[in-house]
Amino acid sequence: MAKVVVVTSGKGGVGKTTTTAALGAAIAEMGKNVCVVDFDVGLRNLDLVMGAERRVVYDLINVVQGDAKLAQALIRDKRVDTLSLLPASQTRDKDNLTLEGVGKLMDELHERFDYVVCDSPAGIERGATLAMRHADIAVVVTNPEVSSVRDSDRIIGLLDAKTARAERGERIEKHLLLTRYDQTRAERGDMLKVDDVLEILSIPLLGIVPESTDVLRASNLGTPVTLADNQSAPARAYRDAARRLMGETIEMTIPGDRKSLFGRFFGRRAA
Ligand SMILES: Nc1ncnc2c1ncn2[C@@H]1O[C@H](COP(=O)(O)OP(=O)(O)OP(=O)(O)O)[C@@H](O)[C@H]1O
Ligand SMILES: [Mg+2]
Repeated sequence: MAKVVVVTSGKGGVGKTTTTAALGAAIAEMGKNVCVVDFDVGLRNLDLVMGAERRVVYDLINVVQGDAKLAQALIRDKRVDTLSLLPASQTRDKDNLTLEGVGKLMDELHERFDYVVCDSPAGIERGATLAMRHADIAVVVTNPEVSSVRDSDRIIGLLDAKTARAERGERIEKHLLLTRYDQTRAERGDMLKVDDVLEILSIPLLGIVPESTDVLRASNLGTPVTLADNQSAPARAYRDAARRLMGETIEMTIPGDRKSLFGRFFGRRAA
Protein backbone atom coordinates (compact mmCIF):
# COMPACT_ATOMS: atom_id res chain seq x y z
CA MET A 1 0.00 0.00 0.00
CA ALA A 2 1.29 3.40 -0.96
CA LYS A 3 2.04 6.36 1.21
CA VAL A 4 0.26 9.35 -0.26
CA VAL A 5 2.14 12.63 -0.05
CA VAL A 6 0.60 15.99 -0.97
CA VAL A 7 2.87 18.91 -1.85
CA THR A 8 0.90 22.00 -0.94
CA SER A 9 1.36 25.66 0.02
CA GLY A 10 -1.62 27.94 -0.41
CA LYS A 11 0.45 30.64 -2.07
CA GLY A 12 1.30 30.24 -5.75
CA GLY A 13 4.76 30.09 -7.29
CA VAL A 14 6.60 28.98 -4.15
CA GLY A 15 8.04 25.76 -5.61
CA LYS A 16 5.40 23.00 -5.26
CA THR A 17 5.83 21.57 -8.75
CA THR A 18 9.62 21.79 -8.51
CA THR A 19 9.38 19.98 -5.16
CA THR A 20 7.00 17.26 -6.40
CA ALA A 21 9.36 16.40 -9.26
CA ALA A 22 12.50 16.61 -7.12
CA LEU A 23 11.19 14.53 -4.20
CA GLY A 24 9.42 12.04 -6.47
CA ALA A 25 12.58 11.44 -8.50
CA ALA A 26 14.77 11.19 -5.39
CA ILE A 27 12.48 8.63 -3.73
CA ALA A 28 12.27 6.63 -6.98
CA GLU A 29 16.07 6.66 -7.28
CA MET A 30 16.17 4.98 -3.88
CA GLY A 31 14.32 2.04 -5.42
CA LYS A 32 10.73 2.82 -4.44
CA ASN A 33 7.90 2.70 -6.96
CA VAL A 34 6.75 6.30 -7.23
CA CYS A 35 3.93 8.03 -9.08
CA VAL A 36 3.85 11.83 -9.24
CA VAL A 37 0.33 13.12 -9.89
CA ASP A 38 -0.46 16.56 -11.30
CA PHE A 39 -3.60 17.92 -9.65
CA ASP A 40 -3.08 21.38 -11.16
CA VAL A 41 -5.76 20.96 -13.81
CA GLY A 42 -5.75 23.75 -16.38
CA LEU A 43 -2.08 24.59 -16.00
CA ARG A 44 -0.32 21.27 -16.49
CA ASN A 45 3.15 22.10 -15.31
CA LEU A 46 4.50 18.93 -13.82
CA ASP A 47 4.90 17.22 -17.20
CA LEU A 48 7.15 20.10 -18.33
CA VAL A 49 9.35 19.94 -15.25
CA MET A 50 9.55 16.14 -15.73
CA GLY A 51 10.41 16.54 -19.43
CA ALA A 52 7.37 14.50 -20.50
CA GLU A 53 5.13 17.11 -22.15
CA ARG A 54 5.36 15.50 -25.58
CA ARG A 55 4.43 12.10 -24.19
CA VAL A 56 1.06 13.09 -22.70
CA VAL A 57 -1.81 11.16 -24.31
CA TYR A 58 -4.35 10.68 -21.53
CA ASP A 59 -4.59 12.62 -18.32
CA LEU A 60 -5.97 12.63 -14.80
CA ILE A 61 -9.46 13.68 -15.88
CA ASN A 62 -9.62 10.97 -18.57
CA VAL A 63 -8.90 8.39 -15.90
CA VAL A 64 -11.27 9.89 -13.31
CA GLN A 65 -14.06 9.96 -15.91
CA GLY A 66 -13.34 6.41 -17.04
CA ASP A 67 -12.32 7.43 -20.61
CA ALA A 68 -8.90 5.85 -20.15
CA LYS A 69 -7.40 3.20 -17.91
CA LEU A 70 -4.79 4.31 -15.41
CA ALA A 71 -2.15 2.23 -17.23
CA GLN A 72 -2.85 4.14 -20.46
CA ALA A 73 -2.35 7.51 -18.84
CA LEU A 74 0.76 6.77 -16.77
CA ILE A 75 4.03 7.95 -18.32
CA ARG A 76 7.07 5.95 -17.26
CA ASP A 77 10.17 8.10 -16.74
CA LYS A 78 13.00 7.40 -19.19
CA ARG A 79 15.74 8.05 -16.63
CA VAL A 80 14.42 6.24 -13.53
CA ASP A 81 12.29 3.23 -14.30
CA THR A 82 10.55 3.21 -10.91
CA LEU A 83 9.17 6.72 -11.55
CA SER A 84 5.83 7.41 -13.28
CA LEU A 85 3.83 10.53 -13.98
CA LEU A 86 0.07 10.95 -14.13
CA PRO A 87 -0.31 14.27 -16.00
CA ALA A 88 -3.06 16.86 -15.63
CA SER A 89 -5.21 18.19 -18.41
CA GLN A 90 -4.55 21.63 -19.82
CA THR A 91 -7.89 21.97 -21.52
CA ARG A 92 -10.50 20.06 -19.60
CA ASP A 93 -12.56 21.63 -16.87
CA LYS A 94 -11.41 20.95 -13.32
CA ASP A 95 -15.05 20.55 -12.25
CA ASN A 96 -14.83 17.14 -13.90
CA LEU A 97 -12.77 15.98 -10.95
CA THR A 98 -15.41 14.48 -8.69
CA LEU A 99 -14.75 13.47 -5.11
CA GLU A 100 -15.83 9.92 -5.87
CA GLY A 101 -13.77 9.66 -9.08
CA VAL A 102 -10.64 10.91 -7.38
CA GLY A 103 -11.23 8.49 -4.51
CA LYS A 104 -11.38 5.53 -6.93
CA LEU A 105 -8.24 6.68 -8.71
CA MET A 106 -6.37 7.02 -5.43
CA ASP A 107 -7.41 3.47 -4.46
CA GLU A 108 -5.88 2.20 -7.68
CA LEU A 109 -2.68 4.22 -7.24
CA HIS A 110 -2.48 2.86 -3.69
CA GLU A 111 -2.30 -0.69 -5.02
CA ARG A 112 0.37 -0.03 -7.63
CA PHE A 113 2.91 2.24 -5.97
CA ASP A 114 4.97 2.68 -2.82
CA TYR A 115 4.69 6.46 -2.90
CA VAL A 116 2.11 8.70 -4.61
CA VAL A 117 3.24 12.33 -4.63
CA CYS A 118 0.47 14.80 -5.49
CA ASP A 119 1.28 18.27 -6.84
CA SER A 120 -1.38 20.65 -5.56
CA PRO A 121 -2.64 23.76 -7.32
CA ALA A 122 -2.18 27.05 -5.50
CA GLY A 123 -4.99 28.46 -3.38
CA ILE A 124 -7.25 27.00 -0.76
CA GLU A 125 -10.20 26.17 -3.01
CA ARG A 126 -11.53 22.87 -4.29
CA GLY A 127 -8.47 21.92 -6.38
CA ALA A 128 -6.19 22.20 -3.38
CA THR A 129 -8.55 20.35 -1.05
CA LEU A 130 -9.01 17.54 -3.62
CA ALA A 131 -5.22 17.16 -3.92
CA MET A 132 -4.81 16.85 -0.15
CA ARG A 133 -7.96 14.76 0.41
CA HIS A 134 -6.30 11.30 0.51
CA ALA A 135 -2.90 12.30 1.82
CA ASP A 136 -1.15 10.53 4.66
CA ILE A 137 1.70 13.03 4.65
CA ALA A 138 1.78 16.72 3.69
CA VAL A 139 4.83 18.64 2.57
CA VAL A 140 4.02 22.30 3.14
CA VAL A 141 6.23 24.31 0.78
CA THR A 142 6.97 27.74 2.18
CA ASN A 143 9.18 30.63 1.11
CA PRO A 144 10.78 32.80 3.79
CA GLU A 145 8.38 35.69 3.41
CA VAL A 146 5.32 36.77 5.36
CA SER A 147 2.63 36.13 2.72
CA SER A 148 3.87 32.60 2.04
CA VAL A 149 4.06 31.76 5.74
CA ARG A 150 0.56 33.10 6.31
CA ASP A 151 -0.86 30.99 3.46
CA SER A 152 0.98 27.92 4.73
CA ASP A 153 -0.63 28.47 8.09
CA ARG A 154 -4.07 28.42 6.45
CA ILE A 155 -3.17 25.25 4.56
CA ILE A 156 -2.09 23.57 7.79
CA GLY A 157 -5.56 24.38 9.16
CA LEU A 158 -7.18 22.78 6.10
CA LEU A 159 -4.98 19.67 6.41
CA ASP A 160 -6.29 19.21 9.94
CA ALA A 161 -9.92 19.73 8.88
CA LYS A 162 -10.60 18.78 5.27
CA THR A 163 -8.67 15.58 4.66
CA ALA A 164 -10.08 12.06 4.85
CA ARG A 165 -7.68 11.33 7.71
CA ALA A 166 -8.85 14.36 9.67
CA GLU A 167 -12.48 13.36 9.15
CA ARG A 168 -11.71 9.88 10.49
CA GLY A 169 -10.11 11.51 13.54
CA GLU A 170 -6.64 10.40 12.44
CA ARG A 171 -3.48 12.45 12.28
CA ILE A 172 -2.00 13.66 9.03
CA GLU A 173 1.78 13.92 9.14
CA LYS A 174 2.85 17.47 8.29
CA HIS A 175 6.31 18.66 7.30
CA LEU A 176 7.64 22.08 6.46
CA LEU A 177 9.89 22.47 3.44
CA LEU A 178 11.45 25.91 3.32
CA THR A 179 12.41 26.71 -0.26
CA ARG A 180 14.06 29.58 -2.13
CA TYR A 181 16.02 30.33 1.02
CA ASP A 182 18.79 32.90 0.78
CA GLN A 183 20.93 33.07 3.89
CA THR A 184 22.58 36.38 2.95
CA ARG A 185 19.22 38.08 2.49
CA ALA A 186 17.90 36.52 5.72
CA GLU A 187 20.91 37.91 7.60
CA ARG A 188 20.30 41.34 6.08
CA GLY A 189 16.71 41.17 7.29
CA ASP A 190 15.25 41.15 3.76
CA MET A 191 13.76 37.70 4.34
CA LEU A 192 12.51 35.74 7.30
CA LYS A 193 15.03 33.54 9.07
CA VAL A 194 14.50 29.80 9.55
CA ASP A 195 13.71 30.29 13.23
CA ASP A 196 11.10 32.96 12.45
CA VAL A 197 9.24 30.64 10.08
CA LEU A 198 9.41 27.68 12.47
CA GLU A 199 8.10 29.77 15.30
CA ILE A 200 4.99 30.71 13.34
CA LEU A 201 4.25 27.37 11.69
CA SER A 202 5.53 24.98 14.39
CA ILE A 203 5.51 21.82 12.27
CA PRO A 204 8.69 19.75 11.88
CA LEU A 205 11.23 20.93 9.35
CA LEU A 206 11.84 18.54 6.45
CA GLY A 207 14.55 20.59 4.78
CA ILE A 208 15.81 23.94 3.56
CA VAL A 209 16.26 24.34 -0.20
CA PRO A 210 18.36 27.34 -1.25
CA GLU A 211 17.42 29.86 -3.90
CA SER A 212 19.49 28.68 -6.85
CA THR A 213 19.72 29.14 -10.61
CA ASP A 214 20.29 25.37 -10.78
CA VAL A 215 16.54 24.94 -10.22
CA LEU A 216 15.55 27.02 -13.22
CA ARG A 217 18.24 25.41 -15.36
CA ALA A 218 17.02 21.89 -14.52
CA SER A 219 13.41 22.91 -15.09
CA ASN A 220 14.25 24.36 -18.53
CA LEU A 221 15.87 21.04 -19.42
CA GLY A 222 12.81 19.11 -18.25
CA THR A 223 14.81 17.36 -15.54
CA PRO A 224 13.84 17.12 -11.87
CA VAL A 225 16.62 19.00 -10.06
CA THR A 226 17.60 15.86 -8.13
CA LEU A 227 18.36 14.11 -11.44
CA ALA A 228 20.19 17.04 -13.05
CA ASP A 229 23.49 17.85 -11.34
CA ASN A 230 23.25 15.67 -8.29
CA GLN A 231 25.92 17.65 -6.45
CA SER A 232 24.14 21.01 -6.77
CA ALA A 233 23.00 22.58 -3.49
CA PRO A 234 19.24 22.27 -4.24
CA ALA A 235 19.69 18.65 -5.40
CA ARG A 236 21.45 17.77 -2.14
CA ALA A 237 18.84 19.59 -0.07
CA TYR A 238 15.97 17.80 -1.86
CA ARG A 239 17.68 14.42 -1.62
CA ASP A 240 18.17 14.84 2.13
CA ALA A 241 14.53 15.94 2.45
CA ALA A 242 13.42 12.80 0.56
CA ARG A 243 15.43 10.59 2.90
CA ARG A 244 13.96 12.32 5.96
CA LEU A 245 10.49 11.82 4.49
CA MET A 246 11.28 8.11 4.33
CA GLY A 247 12.21 8.13 7.99
CA GLU A 248 15.98 8.60 7.98
CA THR A 249 17.66 10.95 10.42
CA ILE A 250 19.99 13.29 8.57
CA GLU A 251 21.78 16.31 9.88
CA MET A 252 20.02 19.56 9.00
CA THR A 253 22.08 22.46 7.74
CA ILE A 254 21.10 25.90 6.54
CA PRO A 255 22.43 26.25 2.98
CA GLY A 256 25.09 28.96 3.00
CA ASP A 257 25.55 28.70 6.75
CA ARG A 258 28.26 26.63 8.39
CA LYS A 259 26.49 26.37 11.71
CA SER A 260 24.75 23.01 11.99
CA LEU A 261 21.20 22.89 13.18
CA PHE A 262 21.43 19.29 14.27
CA GLY A 263 19.82 18.78 17.62
CA ARG A 264 17.98 22.06 17.58
CA PHE A 265 15.42 20.99 15.05
CA PHE A 266 15.58 17.26 15.56
CA GLY A 267 14.33 17.71 19.07
CA ARG A 268 11.04 19.00 17.72
CA ARG A 269 8.05 16.81 18.14
CA ALA A 270 6.17 15.57 15.08
CA ALA A 271 3.00 17.58 14.49
N1 LIG B 1 14.92 26.84 -4.95
C1 LIG B 1 14.64 27.59 -6.01
N2 LIG B 1 15.53 28.48 -6.50
C2 LIG B 1 15.24 29.25 -7.57
N3 LIG B 1 14.09 29.21 -8.26
C3 LIG B 1 13.15 28.34 -7.81
C4 LIG B 1 13.36 27.49 -6.68
N4 LIG B 1 12.24 26.73 -6.50
C5 LIG B 1 11.38 27.09 -7.49
N5 LIG B 1 11.92 28.05 -8.27
C6 LIG B 1 11.31 28.69 -9.44
O1 LIG B 1 10.13 29.34 -9.02
C7 LIG B 1 9.12 29.26 -10.03
C8 LIG B 1 7.86 28.63 -9.44
O2 LIG B 1 8.16 27.29 -9.09
P1 LIG B 1 7.05 26.15 -9.18
O3 LIG B 1 6.40 26.16 -10.51
O4 LIG B 1 7.68 24.89 -8.70
O5 LIG B 1 6.06 26.72 -8.08
P2 LIG B 1 4.56 26.26 -7.78
O6 LIG B 1 4.36 26.45 -6.31
O7 LIG B 1 4.32 24.90 -8.32
O8 LIG B 1 3.72 27.33 -8.61
P3 LIG B 1 2.11 27.30 -8.90
O9 LIG B 1 1.47 27.70 -7.60
O10 LIG B 1 1.93 28.30 -9.99
O11 LIG B 1 1.76 25.89 -9.29
C9 LIG B 1 9.72 28.44 -11.16
O12 LIG B 1 10.21 29.31 -12.14
C10 LIG B 1 10.85 27.69 -10.49
O13 LIG B 1 11.89 27.37 -11.39
MG1 LIG C 1 2.80 24.23 -9.63
